[in-house]
Amino acid sequence: MKVLGIETSCDETAVSIIENSAILSEQVYSQTVHESLGGVVPELASRDHIRKLYVLAWEILDKSGLAISDIDAIAVTAGPGLPGSLIIGVSFAKAIALMNEIPIIAINHLEGHIFGVKLSHKITPPFLALLVSGGHTELIYVHNWGDYKLLGTTRDDAAGEALDKAAKVIGLSYPGGPEIQKIAENGDPKSFRFPIAMLHSNDFDFSFSGLKTAFALTIRKLGIEKTKRNLANILASYQDAIVDSLLLKLDRASKKFGINKIVISGGVAASKRLREKATFKNWELYMPETKYCTDNASMIALAGEFYLLKGQQTPMNFPINSSWILGIPLSMK
Ligand code: KG4
Ligand code: ZN
Repeated sequence: MKVLGIETSCDETAVSIIENSAILSEQVYSQTVHESLGGVVPELASRDHIRKLYVLAWEILDKSGLAISDIDAIAVTAGPGLPGSLIIGVSFAKAIALMNEIPIIAINHLEGHIFGVKLSHKITPPFLALLVSGGHTELIYVHNWGDYKLLGTTRDDAAGEALDKAAKVIGLSYPGGPEIQKIAENGDPKSFRFPIAMLHSNDFDFSFSGLKTAFALTIRKLGIEKTKRNLANILASYQDAIVDSLLLKLDRASKKFGINKIVISGGVAASKRLREKATFKNWELYMPETKYCTDNASMIALAGEFYLLKGQQTPMNFPINSSWILGIPLSMK
């Protein structure tokens, strides 16, 4: 069974064809138009998806020697994400599905990131999943594939957003995570003290806006020259504050629910520091290889294949839902 996956929820235009869970061909185009703008500009993202999506889809069909009529189903991200970007991917998927009478399956982007771990590892639920990206920070109990309980989320900024915004403050390009990582490698993470929010709260929620403000205040207090001289130390400390707060809540959840099997996925899971520190925990740890942490369409195709094998597909009139909560059915209204 061949599934075409389509992902356009943010600033990656991604397509993939999988057959029996194996990737036949895939493409990810990371938009560069946002680099100097400090964050994703929704209008520019939509326009770039339009330019690229058709080209990439036809390229991977070509590479795998397939015609669109060979595809058994289309899996497409319907949310959460940027509305304009989602509409491009969903409209494109619907057009192909209608023309070729192919079933379509609407996939939640966060569920895609959970399935993404299967691209790198053999793993069976139950497990705890920490999904950390530019738009999300969610702690999820995965009882089974398709059966999720949200344990905690961010009260304000997402972990990746905290990295991206700090990078913007000091003039680094978007996305900030990899930029900060590069500079932080030469710094001492213990040299500056940044707050870990919600340390004593009894829940599994996160908060990063206070940390972001503390970063801006530190930079202002130090001034340009001292900031430049201490940049590696500041960024290493800031990066660690984010990593530590993620691992702390994950550790608490692992202990509370007595579950040791842990998945960390989403763009921030590409962080070398997070990967390194997570391995020191006493967990059975699964993290997708770096290229499958960030947005891709193979994870969406894999989730689609799962629902297709269960005999499920989505009625053609489904809407996008830019704030689609994982575990809640996509509203057909
Ligand atoms: O999952 P993703 O590609 O897109 C969203 O769904 O948001 O995640 C993008 C986020 C950005 O905030 C980016 O700064 C962060 O992932 N990121 C990283 C690294 N690579 C990407 N953060 C820390 N270290 C990295 N190496
Ligand atoms: Zn993502």
